[in-house]
Formats: sequence, structure tokens, C-alpha cells
Amino acid sequence: MIFKSLIQTNLRTEYLGKNIEYYQIIDSTNKEAYELIKNNEAFHGMMIITDNQKNGKGRSNKQWYMGPSKGLAMSIIYLKKLSYDNALLIPLAAGLSVAEALKNQGFKPSIKWPNDILINNKKIGGILCENKIQKNTIESFIIGIGLNINETINDFPKDLQETATSLYLEKGFSLQRELICAIITTFLERYLQDFNSIINQWMTYCNHLDTEVSFHYQGEKCSGIFEGINRKGYAKIRIDNNIKEFPSIILK
Ligand code: BTN
Repeated sequence: MIFKSLIQTNLRTEYLGKNIEYYQIIDSTNKEAYELIKNNEAFHGMMIITDNQKNGKGRSNKQWYMGPSKGLAMSIIYLKKLSYDNALLIPLAAGLSVAEALKNQGFKPSIKWPNDILINNKKIGGILCENKIQKNTIESFIIGIGLNINETINDFPKDLQETATSLYLEKGFSLQRELICAIITTFLERYLQDFNSIINQWMTYCNHLDTEVSFHYQGEKCSGIFEGINRKGYAKIRIDNNIKEFPSIILK
């Protein structure tokens, strides 16, 4: 069970999370957000949250696992006009907000480009943003956030047990999901009001600056030195002494 009132008590926002749609069980909060937008039932800043996400969507068409009654799965709907450049920064702002919230609670998170949230090099959270573009204008933006909070190791499917972690596994005590959700949302609103601050702050959490990274891009395997991100959030990678810029690639 997630208590909407507990989220709202802890929120320090003007518009994000003022409307909360809670579902005890749901396929995917991103999918539900999409339906609400399609049916004209969505508000700017609306939050969709569930206690049990059965069929969560991850990046690269993968599934996202959430421990029922243990993890956090939420989506925020953004309906205000957005420039293309600012829209590119939203996924980074979301990952950054999760990292800031975890730091605020005494953890030492890092971010792997573009927005895998890690603790001790294990994945603890991820971001999936989806948008609807019409006539070259971004009409709506869905910011999906998944975070492992109170899962024990046996809660994770076997194939994730080596690479995933949760806040409980890192500290040995349970955390209130509503509080973590509210802190993330409060940071997110702050970054959505100040797009210029996102890149520099994001860099302070990046765990692979100036190191060699490898990735697949347009079907080819590439590797190079990660030199940071540009103003659009693209990765700057030095390959054979040339800096090349890549949109959302998946680092290995
Ligand atoms: C990733 O693969 O790293 C991104 C995972 C994003 C999962 C979240 S959980 C809430 C929201 N709803 C979904 O179906 N997916 C995102």
C-alpha cells in the first residue's frame, strides 16, 4: 500500500505531484500515464504511482522489475510547452533528481550515462521518458522513474541478483517509499525550473568521466574515452583523438 497523503505531506513543490493517481496493481505507470493523456484526463505535473507494477517498461525494450510493495514505480506527466533542447535534458534531470534524493538520505549514488542510477556499481534505479511529438512540437512528456527500495536479494529475479541492489540491501533497514518519492519529485521540480543547472550537477554524479567506455551505436561496437556531455545531453566521446557526440547510447 502506498499512501498518497504521505507523499503529499512530504512534497515541497508548486505543481509536481499535486494530483496523484494511485493504483494498487497496474501493468506500467508509463502506459497508464499515456492512456490518461490520450483520454484528456491528465494534468500538468500529475503523478501516477503503484504498489505493484506487473509489466514495467525499461530502456531498450527490456522489462523493468519492481518488487511488489517494496519498490518504487512512478511516472510524472509534463504537459507545458517544451523546447526540443530542454526536452533532451529531462531524462538527465530525472536521473539526477533520484541521485540527489539518495544523497539527501545518506547514500552515495552515482550515474552511468544517460541515467542508470548506481550504488556500489550495482543498478538501483532507472529512468524511461516517453514523449508525444506532433507537428514538430512536444505535446506531452512522461517521466518514468523506477527505484529499488526495500527489496531483499531473493526478491530479485535470479538474473538480476548479481547486478541489482536496493536501498535496503545497501543499508540494512527499510525506508518509507512515500518519503523517497516526495524528495525525488521535489528535486525534479527544481531542475525543471532551472534547465541550465542540470548538466554541471549531473557531472558531479557521473561515475565514468575520463575513463574508457564501450557501447553499440547504429549496429557497430565502439569504444572511447567519455569526456562528459554537451548542452543537449549528448555524450562526448574521444575516439582516435577526435571528440564525437552521441545521443543516448547504452554504455557497457
Ligand atoms: C531502465 O531500463 O533503466 C529504465 C527503467 C524505468 C522503469 C520505470 S518504473 C516506472 C515507469 N513505468 C514503467 O513502465 N517504466 C518506468
